[in-house]
Amino acid sequence: MARVPDYPSPNAEKWLAVDTYFASLLAPHDAALDDVLAANQEAGLPTHDVSPAQGKMLALFVAMTKARHILEIGTLGGYSTIWLARALPASGRIVTIEASAVHADVARANFDRAGVADRVELRVGKALDVLPSLEVDAASPFDLIFIDADKPNNPAYLDWALRLSRPGTVIIGDNVVRGGAVTDPDSTDPNVRGVRAFLERIAADPRLDATAIQTVGEKGWDGFALAIVKDVDEGEKG
Ligand code: SAH
Ligand code: DHB
Ligand code: MG
Repeated sequence: MARVPDYPSPNAEKWLAVDTYFASLLAPHDAALDDVLAANQEAGLPTHDVSPAQGKMLALFVAMTKARHILEIGTLGGYSTIWLARALPASGRIVTIEASAVHADVARANFDRAGVADRVELRVGKALDVLPSLEVDAASPFDLIFIDADKPNNPAYLDWALRLSRPGTVIIGDNVVRGGAVTDPDSTDPNVRGVRAFLERIAADPRLDATAIQTVGEKGWDGFALAIVKDVDEGEKG
């Protein structure tokens, strides 16, 4: 899938070739996943889906944590949702939140295509409007939370993630590199400011243990933050 890198690099072609090689071996597409990306393109959706190798990584996180209840903020066409949903046991569920009704319609058709519609609960609306309704659900807390929507709201999404979590819950935040601008404390870019506030809040929260990993590949220079909610005793120790 052609993408527009936010950080032009002379190595971008090599990054793509290596990503394509890794994905061909370890994260190959079936026909449904090909059809999903084709449907997204047909509908004119932005190519902001995770890469195949990243989708596989999300699936491995589900397996490693034995997650049964997943929350995703930012569905787009549901490509990441499908990787996450396929890694769930049959009784598992993923709630995914999407603000755009257009994106949500594409995603809904994609869930049918990929055979995961029975495991996916798509909530259409701005995440900050939808999240409060999840708090009162008996189905909370979530075992794994993937934050991948509008970056300026990342600090608020982190607060909600903590509210909807338990000790052991894994929280992943996508796209934290911002073409390297994440290191700029004076940036006026609301995405950069959102990502920096998100990372700083993670770092300062005694309930969380975390890292951030920068990546190269078909999405250019990118990266994600990975956090786990500590056991209560550990959190109290700080
Ligand atoms: N997780 C997807 C990519 C998500 S792209 C994947 O990897 O396949 C980010 C999505 O967040 C877009 O579809 C955008 O419409 C949605 N979004 C933006 N602001 C939002 C908000 N306030 N609440 C919910 N979704 C939002
Ligand atoms: C952007 C958003 C994403 O979720 C992503 O994976 C890549 C890029 C963006 O807003 O530029
Ligand atoms: Mg993303």
